[in-house]
Amino acid sequence: MTQTAADLSPSAQDAICEALNQSVAETAVTTMLAQNFHWNVTGMAFGPLHALFQEIYEDHFVAQDDLAERVKALGGHAEGMLAGMLKRSKVAEHDGHASDKDMIAAMVEAQKTLAATLAQAGALAAEHGDTLTEDLCIARGQTHEKFAWLLGAHLR
Ligand SMILES: [Fe+2]
Repeated sequence: MTQTAADLSPSAQDAICEALNQSVAETAVTTMLAQNFHWNVTGMAFGPLHALFQEIYEDHFVAQDDLAERVKALGGHAEGMLAGMLKRSKVAEHDGHASDKDMIAAMVEAQKTLAATLAQAGALAAEHGDTLTEDLCIARGQTHEKFAWLLGAHLR
């Protein structure tokens, strides 16, 4: 049965908010990762990679807000601490010292991790009938798989 935020049980709300906060955390860590690579990438493909990493962090900056505000719409607390985000995130920070190819490979992995996290969060929302959260998670997961392809095409 489809349920809106007001109809969800407290335990369902908690579980969905927890999954969304992991998505917020990984999106925020990947936002910083993309900006880091935007600044520090070098090589003959500097121009397009500098632009692509910018496209990614601009997309992710909007998305972390959308995901966090979905947590609020569900009555939860949005993770807003960098330390908390790093603790929750399966995407790790990077020191920014790497070749262009290694940066692309690291960003492909981050995008795949995010796609998996969003797919899982979407499935959890679906289990509880929370169609509206499920829809947000599906859309974000698709975007991360698109970025994984856009980036990965450089390495083939
Ligand atoms: Fe810039």
